[in-house]
This record gives sequence, C-alpha cells and structure tokens, in this order.
Amino acid sequence: MNLTPREIVEELDKYIIGQSKAKRAVAIALRNRYRRSKLPKQLREEITPKNIIMRGPTGVGKTEIARRLAKLVGAPFIKIEATKYTEVGYVGRDVESMIRDLVEVAVRMVKDEKAHQMEDKVKPIVEGKLVDAICDTRRAVNMQVDKTIVEQELKEGKLENENVEIYVLDSQKPMLAIGGPEISLGSMFDGILPQKHKKRRMSVARARELLTSEECDKIIDKDNVYAEAIRRTEEEGIIFIDEIDKIIGKAGGSNNQDVSREGVQRDILPIVEGSTVATKYGNVKTDFILFIASGAFHVSNIEDMIPELQGRFPIRVDLDNLTKEDFKRILVEPKNSVTMQYASILAVDNIDLHFTDDAIDEMAEMAFAENETSENIGARRLHTIMESLLEDISFNASDTLPKTEVVIDKNYVQNAFKETKRKFDLKKYIL
Ligand SMILES: Nc1ncnc2c1ncn2[C@@H]1O[C@H](COP(=O)(O)OP(=O)(O)OP(=O)(O)O)[C@@H](O)[C@H]1O
Ligand SMILES: [Mg+2]
Repeated sequence: MNLTPREIVEELDKYIIGQSKAKRAVAIALRNRYRRSKLPKQLREEITPKNIIMRGPTGVGKTEIARRLAKLVGAPFIKIEATKYTEVGYVGRDVESMIRDLVEVAVRMVKDEKAHQMEDKVKPIVEGKLVDAICDTRRAVNMQVDKTIVEQELKEGKLENENVEIYVLDSQKPMLAIGGPEISLGSMFDGILPQKHKKRRMSVARARELLTSEECDKIIDKDNVYAEAIRRTEEEGIIFIDEIDKIIGKAGGSNNQDVSREGVQRDILPIVEGSTVATKYGNVKTDFILFIASGAFHVSNIEDMIPELQGRFPIRVDLDNLTKEDFKRILVEPKNSVTMQYASILAVDNIDLHFTDDAIDEMAEMAFAENETSENIGARRLHTIMESLLEDISFNASDTLPKTEVVIDKNYVQNAFKETKRKFDLKKYIL
C-alpha cells in the first residue's frame, strides 16, 4: 500500500461526500504505516500507531469510510462491532478473537496472492483432470468419447457450461454446539482429520476453479504463508471498531450495564496497548496494529471512556452533519449513488429511469426537512425516501413489458409525498 494521503482521500471522495477532516485523518494514519515501514528496525520499534476515534451523528458516513478503506488498503483489515463483546452473559467475551479474525484475513490474502502466482504452473494439471472428468462423465451415460476432440473443445471454451462429476475435498466441517454458539471443530483438527474427497456434479467452469485452488494448495508452502500472514497482521493490520460509544457507560454509572461495558473496555485495552495473542498460525503481537474506532456518542462522551483506553486514541475527528447540498450530491455523485442503484435495478425490468435536477433538489430538501422534524438519521433518510418514491414503479415493473422510459421530475416527487408531506406539516404542530 503506497498511496499518498492525497490519493487515499481522492479514492474516498469517489464514494463519500464531505467529511474531509475524517478522510484526511485516516489517510495520514495509513500513510504513516508505510513511512514507518521504511525506517531502520530500532526506530520502527519505537513508533506505535496513532489510533483514531471518529465521532459524529448517525448516518453521516462513519461506517462507509471504514468499508471503503477496507477495499482500498490492501492490508489485513477487519471491522468489528464493539457491542459484540457486551452480550448479556458474555461480559468480555473473547475479545482476542478479533486478532484471530484479522490473521485469518491475512492468511487468505497471502494465499490468494500465492495461488495467483501459481496459476500458470498448475494449469496443465487442472486441464488434464478436467478432460478426464468430462470423458468419464460422458462415458457414464454411454456417450461416445473422443479424448482429442474433448481436449480441443475445452481449449476453445465450448464446454464451460457442461456438467461434470469431479472428486473435491469435502469442505463440510464438523460442528459442535455447546448450549449456544456453534463452534466449528474443522479448524481445530485441520491436518489431523484425514481429508475426505467427495464426488460432486458441477459446471466445468466451477470445477476448474475448485481444482485450481486444490492444486495450488498442494504446492504452496503453508509455513511460508502463515509467517507472511502474521508479519502483515502485526505490521500492517487495521482493526475498525464500530459503535465504540456503545461500550461506554455513563460517567460514574454503577448499574450492571455500565459495569459490563467498562469490563469490555478493560478487555480491549491490552489488545490496543500491545500484547501477544495466540492464534492457530502462531503468536501475534498487537503493538503496531492500527485501530480506528467510531461512534455516534449521543449519550456518552469520549471522556467517559476509561482513561487508559482514551489515551490510546490520541486522534479525534468529528464528522459533520450533512446539509441539504450534501444530500443532493450524495444522491448523484458517488460511484454507487442511490439513484444509480435504483436505475440499474429497475433496468433489469426494462425501466429506463431518469431523474431531473429539480427532482433531486426536491428529494434532498425533503430528506433534510424530515431529518429536522423527526429523527435525524442522516443520509439513511435518502434511502427511505427513494424506497417510497419508487414503490409504485418497482411494484408494477416486469420484464414482460416493453422498454419504458420513466422520468422522475419535481412534480412526481411532490405527488408521491403529498400525503406524507401533510404529515410532516402536522408534526410541527404536534411537537
Ligand atoms: N457523506 C456521505 N457520502 C455518501 N454517502 C453517505 C454519506 N454518509 C452516509 N452515506 C450513506 O448513508 C448510509 C449510512 O451511512 P453509514 O453507515 O456510514 O452511517 P454511520 O455514520 O456509520 O452511522 P451510525 O452511527 O448509525 O453507525 C450508507 O448507505 C452511506 O452510503
Ligand atoms: Mg455505523
């Protein structure tokens, strides 16, 4: 990962409107990982990451930033919900599992890379197996088989959709349920239980994928993969802790819930501070993992967090409330904008959906007004508005009808919300 902070922000800009402070903060934190990795070893050991807390109202892009970051970084990255560790009866439930999950991501990453490098090497073996499987499958139904023709047709890509029977590793792992959460025994016994092969029927294309990954598995040096995965986890790993405010009780609070929440903070502390966690691939030092936390902090404050944990999150960024202008941009600008999503979904059923500028304006206005008068749910309001706006069209569209162009203009929006709008107005008086 050697995108510059500017480049990271540019990437994030494609999906998230505004929130430039938060984008800058995460971009700098990411780049600092890279900068650190270029330093001599002794100095590197001295520099721990500056963890970040993002604070801001609901639905303004906190989780979205994390999701986009994950796709961008090319480093082991996981997003966890802090609340996962507060379930009743599970106070401080195995917080170390977040490190294990992170290593798991790293292992998959390294494995994929290695497999990619091996693809050419295993190709002849896989194609050979495919030819045999196709011939056998055909013979089983008494078809005449000419191996050379099969080879030729396979090469020309003519057989991709034909069904074949192949033996594949049985990936079903035994599960054990101990009065609640199911625990997969599979991984515990990896390498101990004999691997079972099972005959399965599938398309040639799918069979090629499975055989390729099996053949790659055979020649990839697992120890190398695990060592590299652990190195990457320790040096480049990023953990995004979402909803961190939910594990913060009221200052000085002493009811059960507050105590349990504080317990979770105490459990998380050593991981954020730096400790060693045992995983099935080896020990992982957590000292240099970057943590980015986020929360709405409606009821609690960062200052209510236990001081030791606060100290480990020196960088605080506030996300801004979204304005009507932001809403307008969110509707059309992001690569995966809401309007684009609906247009593509309805295109499947022959609807050619367009929005006029004044319709966008009207929707943004409505979203903003509704957030003001009822609960403020940020950009999520746009989804609810789009959903009810297009309800009628969504219901009536079907691919048996001819292609129809539908233009949503201001009038359409106003009509669709006539009823609701009156309700908004009434609410003003009721409140
Ligand atoms: N600034 C933004 N730019 C583009 N889309 C946004 C923005 N903010 C929110 N959205 C959209 O709104 C939805 C909710 O946003 P997100 O999940 O990031 O909220 P959040 O800040 O994490 O809120 P919460 O505190 O409730 O978890 C997402 O679908 C996202 O695409
Ligand atoms: Mg969120």
